[in-house]
This record gives sequence, C-alpha cells and structure tokens, in this order.
Amino acid sequence: MKIKMNQISPSTQLFRFGTPFNTEAVTLNIDASSFCETENLPQFKCEKKDNTYLFTYVMNKKQCIFGLGESLGGMNKRSHNYRMWNSDDPSHTEEKDALYGSHPFFIISDENEKIGIFIDFPTEFHIDAGFTQYDILSIKVPSENFDLYIFTGNSELQIVREYLKLTGTPYMPPKWAFGFQQSRWSYPNENAVTNVADKMADAGIPCDAIYIDIDYMDNYKVFTVDKNKFADFKKFTAEMKQRGIRLIPIIDPGVRVEENYSVYEDGVKNNYFCKESDGKTDFTAAVWPGLVHFPDFLNDNARTWWGQLYHFLWDAGIDGIWNDMNEPAIFYTPRKLEAAKKKIAERTINNSWDFFEIRDSLGTLANRRDDYAEMYHLPGDGKSGIVSHENLHNLYGLNMTRATVDEFKKDFPDKRIFLLTRSSSAGAHRMAAIWMGDNQSWWSHLLLHIQMLVSLNICGFFYTGADVCGFSGNVSNELALRWMQFAIFSPLFRNHAALGTRNQEPYNFDDKTTNRMRHFIRTRYKLLPYMYTEFVNAVKTLTPLCTPTAFYDKSCQSLECQDEFFLGRSILVTPVYQPNAQGRNVYLAGNRPYLYVKLCNNGLDNFNIVQAGNFYAEYSADEVAFFIKENCGVPTGVLEEDGKTFNTVEIIAFVSGVATASYYEDDGETNDYLKNNFFQIDFTIKKEINNSFCIQATTQGNRQPEIKNYNFVIVDEKGGITRQTFSL
Ligand code: GLC
Repeated sequence: MKIKMNQISPSTQLFRFGTPFNTEAVTLNIDASSFCETENLPQFKCEKKDNTYLFTYVMNKKQCIFGLGESLGGMNKRSHNYRMWNSDDPSHTEEKDALYGSHPFFIISDENEKIGIFIDFPTEFHIDAGFTQYDILSIKVPSENFDLYIFTGNSELQIVREYLKLTGTPYMPPKWAFGFQQSRWSYPNENAVTNVADKMADAGIPCDAIYIDIDYMDNYKVFTVDKNKFADFKKFTAEMKQRGIRLIPIIDPGVRVEENYSVYEDGVKNNYFCKESDGKTDFTAAVWPGLVHFPDFLNDNARTWWGQLYHFLWDAGIDGIWNDMNEPAIFYTPRKLEAAKKKIAERTINNSWDFFEIRDSLGTLANRRDDYAEMYHLPGDGKSGIVSHENLHNLYGLNMTRATVDEFKKDFPDKRIFLLTRSSSAGAHRMAAIWMGDNQSWWSHLLLHIQMLVSLNICGFFYTGADVCGFSGNVSNELALRWMQFAIFSPLFRNHAALGTRNQEPYNFDDKTTNRMRHFIRTRYKLLPYMYTEFVNAVKTLTPLCTPTAFYDKSCQSLECQDEFFLGRSILVTPVYQPNAQGRNVYLAGNRPYLYVKLCNNGLDNFNIVQAGNFYAEYSADEVAFFIKENCGVPTGVLEEDGKTFNTVEIIAFVSGVATASYYEDDGETNDYLKNNFFQIDFTIKKEINNSFCIQATTQGNRQPEIKNYNFVIVDEKGGITRQTFSL
C-alpha cells in the first residue's frame, strides 16, 4: 500500500490518507510539498477493506495507554473500547464508549518505548484498546480521508509537548476562574441569585461566580432575558460584580422557531441554519424551547453572525459564558415523533400492544443517527455544497466555541475569555474550557472526575472539571464532602446540580457539613497562589498540570495506580473516593520521601514524613491533606478575614537539600502576560551545614509585585521546622 508521509519534525510524522477535511485541530503549518511515499506505518499494521482502514498494534504485557481526553476507562485506557462520537449521555456507566467530547490523542508506553498517536478525523471511528483482545490495539477509521500522526519521544511528557506544538497552546482562563463557582439548574431570577450570594456571604464562603441556567431566558429563547425575572439585567450584573461575583449565563445552540424573534428571523433570512437534504429547508428538531433550528457553525458567515449575538451579553457586563447542548443534543424531530405516534395509534386500533415496542418508539427519539444524517451543513464559504452532519458530527461543539471566541477576540483583543463549553474535539483545548458533561451523584463519578482530569490534561485541556457533587441524583452528605474535598484540586471548581435534585450548595447541608465545606473552599483560595503559578507554568511549558504517577515511575504499583495524580510540580493529590473510609492506600512514586501535610485555615496543621512506596494515609472527611515532593515548596496565601484575599504568601517547603518554589502574578484578565507584564519569583531554599536555610530569589517579568512579603515554613528531612521570612 502506498501512503503519503510528511516528516513534520524529528519526532512527528504525518500519514495522510486521501483528502482530509480541515477539522481545525492542527495549527502548525504543514508544508504540502514535503510529502513522500511510504509502504508502511512504523509499528502499526495497516489494512484497507472497502472504505475502511484498520490499524493494529501488538502491545506487550506492561504497556499502558494514556490520554483519550473525555472518556471512561481509567487513567490507563487499556482494556476498554472507545467510540469517537460526541454523545449526550448523563448516565454513563462503565460499559459506555462515547461521551461529550472526542479527543483521539493517546500514548502507548512502557519503560522502553513511548509512541503517541493522533487521528484527525471529524466524525465517528473506533479505538479498541485491548478490549476484544488484550494484546491488540486497533483503530478502525471508516473513511479514505483522514490524517494520522505518530509521535516518538523519550518521555510521555515530550510526546504531549509535540502534540501541543501541533495543535496549539492550551486555553488560559482569567484568574477569577480558579475561584469557587456555584451553579444549579436553576437560579431562575434575581431573587434566587441574590439569595445564593447572600447565603454564601452569611456562611463565610467565598465564591467568584454564579451560573444562570436556561430559565433566565424568555421562553428558552437564546440571547433573550425574561424581564419578569431580571427587570434590569445590566444593573443586576453590575451589582453582583460589585459583590465580587460574576454571572455566567448559559447559551444553547437551538434557536426557537417563533415569528418576530429576531435571532430566528435573521437566521432564516440569511440561511444561517442547518438544512435538510434539499439544501433549502431549515432542519427542525426539538430541544428545551420546543421546535428549533440549529445554526450552521461549520459555515463561516453563520459563525460570525452567531459570535456577534453574544454582544448582547458582553454589553450587559457579562464576563463569562456557558455554551451547552452543542453535540448538538436533540430531544426529537417532528418527523420521527409523528412516525412514533402513528405506530402507537396503529397498535391501539389493532389492539396489538407490545410493551417494548411502544416504550422504544418513544424512548429512542433522542440523538438519533438517522436524524443527524438528515441534517446538512454548508461548510466554509459554502461554495463546495452541502455535507451531511453525520460526516462532521464531532466538529459541531468546537465550531460553536470558535464562533464565540473568534468574535470576542475581535472586540476584546487583549482580554481572556471565560468560556465553558460541553461538546468538544481535538483543538478545542486552545480555545475554551470544557466541563465533563452531565454526571451523577455517584461515587464512581467522583473517581471519574479524578481520572478524566488526567486524561483531559494529556490532551491539552488543562483547565477542566466535573459537576462537583454530581449533576443528577441526590447526593449524600458524605459523598458531597468527599467530592468538595477533592475538587479544591480541580482547576475548574464548580458545584452544579440538576433541576429536582437535592439542594447541594455548601450552605444547604447541616452545620457540621457546611463548616467543613467552608474549610475546603477557603483552603482552595489559600492554595490559589500555587494553583495559578503552576497553571501558568503548565501553559508556558506545554506540560499538563495534572499528570499520572506512571509518567515518573514505571513500577507495577505506579502503572496500576488509577486514583492519584501530580498537580503541578510539587503536590501529589490522593483523594478519598469511597464511602465509609477514614483514609486510603496511596502509592508514593519514585524513591524519595514525601511530606504528608494537613492544612488548617492558619496554614500547616500537622505533617509527617513518609518514605516512597505504599502507605495508608489517614484522611478524614473534615481535613485537607496532600503530599509535597521532596525539595519542593508550595506557595499559599495567608488569608484575610474574608477567606479569599491575602497580602502575604507563605511557602510550605520540604527540604533535605536544595528546594525550589515559584510564585507568579499577572493582571489575571488580559493577555499582557505574553508581553512580559507579569511577575514571577523563583526561590531556592538551601539547607546549610548548621541546619539553617539560605533563601535566594530571582525574579522575572516587568510587573510590579503585589506581594512583597514571604513567610517560609520549612520542614527538614528529620521533621524539624524552621520559620524564616523574605521581603522584596
Ligand atoms: C444540560 C447541561 C446541564 C444543564 C441542563 C439545563 O443537561 O449539561 O449542565 O443544567 O442542560 O440547561
């Protein structure tokens, strides 16, 4: 077989099949004249049958698979099946193969060899990662037009960097997005939102954002606000901002079919909506507003139009947007609903009811493949004709994101956008944040949050998180506590719940639970200097913020470890995710000791030094605990009364020789940090012979520092504590 190959860099090869659709995943300029022909792919067997390509790779016993972004299957993705097809599935149980996003980048690794794979293809295909046969990894692409990239490198992190050089630098949110965020479907009006803000304040719980779900709109019509619920939206947004709270409204793609509704009328008049197969009739489906048309985000003009609609919200002082339902989720199409009704009527007349048939005729109306196949796009400038949605499905969410982000950038070129979006594909990591879609108040979904954070980070989605405490279902106190306790380490820290479920705002529990949650949330703010410093370092160095222990240690324990990760350069996070636990077994990767610390609001509460290897860590539901790596320091804020702000940074360090610690500041809102408008201080803390510590600092950037005073709490290898200060 003749295959076109392009050696993009010493470690990256592109194999091009046919004429692929430009998915926008890749940002690197690829020299079209540098292709040569080859017979084989390295390591992979390549076969073609009819219009389908099959790539197979034989895995040895120890090889793990990392990556695949938003997917089930643990941190090591081996032994599971994956289907790249963006799917609205809130009840995802273990056997499910597709979720809200498709991110087909993964690394096959053991101690000898690391290979990265990225398949750039806009619609459904399958990856069998040793599910059918444990030693066979197979990729099945039902097309003749796609790109396949193979990366090689000495480490998994080097391969991730090559992938990110190809697909772009990860998204950088504004700094406030690292604060606590509260959401519920729904806080439908001013009173409800004010009530949340008041109750948070009364309970002494800091909060940076409150989300408003679909009920704020007039009849679920996007880009409208119901005046009966928010009399003066702009004024209210400003009042909330005054209180330090950003309002984040939801926007869905479905535009309600309604005369005299300008978004609908403009869309129809200008052909901005997806079409039926005749290329003329607007495709109709039902979502929250009833019957809707879907904007054709694949079309350049429609995308620009949609992006401009957000002006309505930016003008009202809104700082962040939540784009939802953009797989797109379909409840039903009128055509299929009519067919189902007809079938039921016939059975009724003939008195030939079959329970399962009746149940399925209504129960299978949502997100149907034959509906997606009947929806058409006019991609790009529209000149190349219509394309069925079936062939571009995974790009819909990414292109809604592009619509929002591209116009925002035109209007606010220096500002960072806060955009949280549900459906995504490769490349979306450089544009916006995603959350992990609808989940359940299940212990297994807490574990999934932990695991998916790592898999998504490997695919470039550094800022992400799940609905904390679970979206559907009623959360138990214990699960809520454990989830909040973990989520202080999740870059996106948003508590969100579905309509009809138990109120799960931190103040809506018994006093004891609320007090604990206050402690967690305040500690999150305390850890913000670390989180933000490490996040920026991650973006600048193209190194995931959350990484599995298996990247650093290839022992069996480490490779099998599916429930802990390194957050940044210094912290190992080991959450409790099972009921009735007083702690958990952790695996401390490498061969050097760690410092197990517990934090209280005043700083270091207690600690012990633990040798590498297996360890049972006591970790009760009212504590904040984590491990600090040897010779590392963690900057924390010395919090003021409000539990949020600080004027002094305290660095907790575990030092046996020479430790490093960094602290970073910028304006938190703009892209000026790229023009050197930031401040970074890098400390070295050196243990001297007489057991004292020599602290030296170098600084970077042009910005005047806000923090000038640093306290050091240094624990040495024998457990002795030294306190020192440093001032600029
Ligand atoms: C979808 C979203 C969820 C939202 C709900 C109502 O299920 O994923 O977060 O609350 O719609 O808008």
